[in-house]
Amino acid sequence: MAALERALGVLRCPTCGAALTGAAGAVRCAQGHSFDVARQGYLSLVAGGRAAPAGDTAEMVAARESFLEAGHFQPLAAKLADLLEHAFDGAGVVVDLGAGTGWYLARVLDRFPEAAGLALDVSKPALRRAARAHPRAAAVGCDAWGPLPLRDHAAAAVLNVFAPRNAAEIARVLRPEGAALIVTPGDRHLEELVAPLGLVRVDPDKDERLARQLAARLEPVEREELRWRIRLDRDDARAAAAMGPSAFHVEADDLDRRVAALPDQVDVTAAVTLSLARAAVPSARPPAPAAAASDPGHRRSRPGSRPPRSPGDKG
Ligand SMILES: C[S@@+](CC[C@H](N)C(=O)[O-])C[C@H]1O[C@@H](n2cnc3c(N)ncnc32)[C@H](O)[C@@H]1O
Ligand SMILES: [Zn+2]
Repeated sequence: MAALERALGVLRCPTCGAALTGAAGAVRCAQGHSFDVARQGYLSLVAGGRAAPAGDTAEMVAARESFLEAGHFQPLAAKLADLLEHAFDGAGVVVDLGAGTGWYLARVLDRFPEAAGLALDVSKPALRRAARAHPRAAAVGCDAWGPLPLRDHAAAAVLNVFAPRNAAEIARVLRPEGAALIVTPGDRHLEELVAPLGLVRVDPDKDERLARQLAARLEPVEREELRWRIRLDRDDARAAAAMGPSAFHVEADDLDRRVAALPDQVDVTAAVTLSLARAAVPSARPPAPAAAASDPGHRRSRPGSRPPRSPGDKG
């Protein structure tokens, strides 16, 4: 709850955009719009007037929690924190858009002791977990496709891991030179499970679409492919299928039958793309020379590097 109280300074009323203040079990704005804090510790700022999607179901979130807690995606969590080491100064608010259980956000906060975390998601079962993912993380319910209930330039960094990304809103909420770190599955991600478990395949055009969406609002800085191998038992393999979009397409009974036909252990490829971007600042940028603008190999500068810590700094 302390994390939520601290987060109020960067939040805004989803109805009128005014600042929010806390009161027992609720927060409200000066116009009198009031929003409940759930018993489980998350604040719902889903705007009225348009139906918000439900997000991941309780079963999907439970599967994701068990898969992540088994550590199979630890290399990705470590890489996220490594990239952020060079991309922001380690302080301020790290927003995780489509945070799910808040597992990646918690790993990042472990690396940055001066940062505060804000997990945004629309799924109630996810928000319940995210609210207790880390002592410095608050969890807030909202629709990632609508205006985010965040003030302009409130975020030092935005994470977006396998989740809906709203480039315009990410750019709006980033502080100048803030970093957005977006993770998408590669086309070989979990490929050994695709046929046996009937998983939904990654859309091959997705990379290009992502680049287009981001380019309009965010300036790409760095892109990295990460691939590693994971060894799954049947429970893990089932969780991998049940936590993702395939859960919307494969019936639970069918999945059980398919999982039972797997060997005791299956070695699987994890393959993701990490895209680091920063908010584009059009007015501060001189017009790009035509040659550089059209050269895909043109190197871009990295965002402000993190200053070295003095030996007396904590962390
Ligand atoms: C594939 S999960 C990834 C969760 C987390 N980033 C992770 O990797 O563990 C996608 C998440 O996006 C959330 N989500 C889906 N649609 C959303 C929306 N319109 N607004 C906010 N969150 C949404 C889901 O509830 C789910 O938690
Ligand atoms: Zn209001």
